Amino acid sequence: MAVLRAAIAGTGFIGAVHARSARLAGAQLVGVAASSPESARAAAEVLGAGKSYASAEELVLDPDVDVVHICTPNHLHLPLAEAALAAGKHVICEKPLALDAAGAQQLVDVAAGAGLQAGVPFVYRYYPTVREARERVASGQTGPVRLIHGAYLQDWLLRPDDANWRVDEQLGGASRSFADIGSHWCDLAEFISGDRITRLSARLLTAVPERTGEPGRHAFGSGDGSGTARRVTTEDAALVQFETESGALGSLVVSQVSAGRKNRLWLELDGSEEALAFDQEHPEELWCGRRESLTIRRRDPAELSEAAGRLAFLPAGHPQGYADCFDAFVADVYEAVGGGLLPEGTPTFADGLRAALITHAVIESARDGRWVDVERIPAPVADSQAVGS
Ligand SMILES: NC(=O)c1ccc[n+]([C@@H]2O[C@H](COP(=O)([O-])OP(=O)(O)OC[C@H]3O[C@@H](n4cnc5c(N)ncnc54)[C@H](O)[C@@H]3O)[C@@H](O)[C@H]2O)c1
Repeated sequence: MAVLRAAIAGTGFIGAVHARSARLAGAQLVGVAASSPESARAAAEVLGAGKSYASAEELVLDPDVDVVHICTPNHLHLPLAEAALAAGKHVICEKPLALDAAGAQQLVDVAAGAGLQAGVPFVYRYYPTVREARERVASGQTGPVRLIHGAYLQDWLLRPDDANWRVDEQLGGASRSFADIGSHWCDLAEFISGDRITRLSARLLTAVPERTGEPGRHAFGSGDGSGTARRVTTEDAALVQFETESGALGSLVVSQVSAGRKNRLWLELDGSEEALAFDQEHPEELWCGRRESLTIRRRDPAELSEAAGRLAFLPAGHPQGYADCFDAFVADVYEAVGGGLLPEGTPTFADGLRAALITHAVIESARDGRWVDVERIPAPVADSQAVGS
């Protein structure tokens, strides 16, 4: 197979992770685009890309590119992904796929019509222990799942001088913490349980009503107190209760203002035979609780199911992590780009749409103070102000 030619639009935190994964999957990093031609030149040098583009719009049209990775602020995902697909490129587009569910649906339709690969990096699916949990549920070892609960907590937007483009509703979307990280949790909950969230009730909290940090700052940096004060219209935290298709109940706390928590995605599923707990910051172990015994299952290739073992490429005791998940995800999408079958479990634009539908329901529920059904195609949310409490 010819070497795949990849290009990356957006070279912040996650763009650099994509660049590494693309290379490891055997692609040539043709070029990158950033917020300006100057920053693209600097990023091309750091990332070792062949060239820099004057703009992301130029990048997506380059005839020498086979696959485009879209790692820009959220408001650019839809136009860039659509332009890339129209130009015949395979696309890996960051979540959220679009600022609303209608936009995400549009991308699903365009990708399907074009017959091109279209992936969305819900990469927590690629921890071997996550696959192991999924296998345990699917094989019946866990028994019917009755409760799904957990949290996704970060602290990088704790203070009033913390900011990033994500805080700006025009660039990040009407939902911030839920769309940004709650979407990962819900994807994982549905992926492991094989169940679907059908109804939910949400409350949103804007704990920091005004921020002074500069929106141009990259993700996960600390504020320095400088910048103009801006009113915040998106949520810092969300509480969601939900019901699933099979009748399970669930609850989730999402926050970007939980001091000391860096990327604490915690998910627990209580089945009739056992409970399973996955902790993203300790992903080498899967907690399996039974009434008579407790087992901590290690990420040991010798003990894992086939589905999980495929992703466990190091021996037990040699930790794999977040970047390895990304590598495995990109390799799976590239497998299909290269003409192979898309490996089962690869998150695609359909999963991006699913996340957008759940996010829409969260916004609507918090706004109206009622339970909302998830899986219908929504009308646009007119007033998406976060609900303070
Ligand atoms: N899948 C995941 O696990 C994961 C993790 C982090 C971020 N993300 C997603 O990745 C995207 C980027 O997030 P981030 O944390 O890397 O943000 P970031 O702020 O670190 O980086 C954003 C980048 O976009 C560039 N940019 C801004 N305007 C641009 C334009 N007009 N054209 C081209 N580039 C432009 C900036 O120069 C910067 O390099 C977001 O959509 C986010 O939701 C996903």
